[in-house]
Amino acid sequence: MSTALPFKQRLRDYKERVEKALDAWLPAPDQQPDRLHQAMRYAVLNGGKRIRPVLVYATGEALGGPVAGLDGPACALELIHAYSLVHDDLPAMDDDDLRRGIPTCHRAFDEATAILVGDALQALAFKILARDPAMAISPHARLDMITLLADASGSRGMVGGQAIDLAAVGQRLNLAQLENMHRHKTGALIRASVELGALAAGCQDKQLLQNLRDYARCIGLAFQVRDDILDIEGDTAVIGKTQGADMARNKPTYPALLGLEEAKATARRLHQEALDALSGLDRRADILRQISAYIVQRES
Ligand code: IPE
Ligand code: IPE
Ligand code: MG
Ligand code: MG
Ligand code: MG
Repeated sequence: MSTALPFKQRLRDYKERVEKALDAWLPAPDQQPDRLHQAMRYAVLNGGKRIRPVLVYATGEALGGPVAGLDGPACALELIHAYSLVHDDLPAMDDDDLRRGIPTCHRAFDEATAILVGDALQALAFKILARDPAMAISPHARLDMITLLADASGSRGMVGGQAIDLAAVGQRLNLAQLENMHRHKTGALIRASVELGALAAGCQDKQLLQNLRDYARCIGLAFQVRDDILDIEGDTAVIGKTQGADMARNKPTYPALLGLEEAKATARRLHQEALDALSGLDRRADILRQISAYIVQRES
């Protein structure tokens, strides 16, 4: 994919690319058990910004990796993310009715199906990393990627963050606790997106990997800070989920703890730190700089 295209065009191209690949990996809607397969497709092929796949492609291409080898990790990340959203919306968790502008999976189907959708999407993500023939990497590098995704998804990554989130409802977290929760529930998969993009591109430069990890830590936290801000300032029709849901459920968020203005200042500071982490990288990393700006300015 040409790396000289304007930023918005590249976002669109990456989004289209991962959606085509996801469509191909997901079981056909008429394949048995057909209701489950229809629900899986409903939960994945329904819009979404695809920011994690975009990060995989942008990082991989910035390091000179061939784009075909990035489809697998891009799909795997988006499948884990889509599963996390389906489960996040369940009545036992956030109990939300709207996701990506349409009824949540358990509303459109039923709760049991939504639980199974999450389970099956997670399994498919790991199958892709294990088997995608287009990933031209050594078996050893493949194992590293599978391990990285497992760590980022599991009890010491995203799922751990979700557990902290649920335990914190109605509690008053201090800033360090809130940051720790955000770094896990959202930061872990964003960091994994950048790291998997780099590994898929064959990057072995330890210093470069560390710089990219620092960048990813900043934008991962910034992403959830912005999500918390949009829950207050966003418009339901634009964010595609019910505005005000965090406040209604007494969720610990950055604006709840710091106020809206300080939450926005935090996002701006994190953006600056993300840029600083990339200071040793040349123009090929501009897309990563643009993604960081996009994350803290996005309206949806
Ligand atoms: C929403 O993620 C949940 C968080 C982790 C903050 P996104 O804002 O990436 O949701 P989609 O994929 O675009 O719907
Ligand atoms: C979701 O955080 C994080 C994960 C799904 C892992 P939120 O609960 O804030 O996400 P939204 O606002 O429902 O998208
Ligand atoms: Mg939640
Ligand atoms: Mg939620
Ligand atoms: Mg939220």
